[in-house]
Amino acid sequence: MTYSLTLRRPDDWHLHLRDGAMLRAVLPETARHFGRAIIMPNLVPPVVRGSDAAAYRDRILAALPDGMSFEPLMTLYLTEDTDPDDMAAAHASGLIKAVKLYPAGATTNSASGVRNIDSVRPVLERMAEIGLPLCVHGEVTTADVDIFDREAVFIDTVLDPMRKSVPGLRVVMEHITTRQGAEYARSGGADLGATITTHHLVINRNHILVGGIKPHYYCLPVAKREEHRLALRAAATSGEACFFLGTDSAPHTDPNKEMACGCAGCFTATNTMSVLAQVFEQEDALNRLEAFCSLNGPAFYGLPANTDTITLTRGEPVHYPAKIDTDDGPVTVFDPQMDLLWRVD
Ligand code: DOR
Ligand code: ZN
Repeated sequence: MTYSLTLRRPDDWHLHLRDGAMLRAVLPETARHFGRAIIMPNLVPPVVRGSDAAAYRDRILAALPDGMSFEPLMTLYLTEDTDPDDMAAAHASGLIKAVKLYPAGATTNSASGVRNIDSVRPVLERMAEIGLPLCVHGEVTTADVDIFDREAVFIDTVLDPMRKSVPGLRVVMEHITTRQGAEYARSGGADLGATITTHHLVINRNHILVGGIKPHYYCLPVAKREEHRLALRAAATSGEACFFLGTDSAPHTDPNKEMACGCAGCFTATNTMSVLAQVFEQEDALNRLEAFCSLNGPAFYGLPANTDTITLTRGEPVHYPAKIDTDDGPVTVFDPQMDLLWRVD
C-alpha cells in the first residue's frame, strides 16, 4: 500500500470560472491544487474575439489571491461569425490555446453556438493549418434524439464527418460520457484527445434519479448507464495518451440548481484530486494518476508538464466543505458518496 504519492502538479483541461463574484470565489478552489486550466468561454456575452479573451484573462489574474500562482489558458467561443484572422492572431500571440465548439442549444450559454457546422468550415480549416485545437461539446441537439443518445449520435453524424472533411484538425472530445466516446477517442491517433470529468468516473444516471431527483448530480452531457461509467474508468486509468483530466467543474448557485428548471453542472474543483486518487486506488492504478492529471494533457497541447509537484497522503478521511460561499449565493461541492482518504498536502 502506498501512503504518499508525489505527482507533477496537475492541470485541468476543461474548467468554468465564470466572472465577478463567482470567479473570485471559485478560482482559489482550482488554483490551490492545479497549475493551469483551459478556461471555458461560455460567459454572457461569450468570449468571442481575442480582445474578449485578453480582458477575461486579466480579470482572472486580478481575482487570484496573493501568494497563489495559476495560469489560465484561454479559449474562444466559436460562432458562425468568428473572424479567422482575429482568431489566428490571438493564437500566434500565445493568448489562446483552443477554440470551443458548442452546438447551439446544447448546454449552458450555448445560444450563440454553431447551428450549421458547414458554416464554420473556413475557420476549422484555418485551425488545422495553424495547429490550434478545437474543443468540442459533443452532443446533437435535435429534439428527436434521446438525451442519453446525444453523444453517440454526435460522434457518428457530426464529429466523424467533420474530422474527415478537415484533415489535420486537432480535436479534444470534451467530457466524454460513453463507451462509444472512449472508443472513438482511442481510434483517432495523435490529433484526437478526450477529457474525462471527475464526476463521470463516480456517478451514473441512477445517482441523479433514484430515490428522488438530485439536481447537484445533473450536468451535461448527462451521466449515462453504469456500463459507460465503467468504460470511462477504464479509459482514465489506462494511462493512454489520448485521455486526460478536464473536470468541467461548473459552479451554479444552489437556488439556480434547486429549481423547477435547474442548471446543468457539477462543482468539483474543491475535492477533485482527493476523489480522483480514491478512484485510481479503487482501480489499482495510482501509478497512472500522474499521466491522467499532469502529463497527457500538456503533451496533447504541446506544452511542458509542470515542474513543481503536489503530494497526496493517505490517512484518515479528509473532509471538504459541503458548500462554498460566494457573494452570489452558496455553491454545493460535488458529493462523491465515499470516504476520501487521500489528502492533498
Ligand atoms: O454541465 C455542464 N455545465 N455542462 C456544460 O457543458 C456547461 C456547464 C456550465 O457552463 O454550466
Ligand atoms: Zn464545460
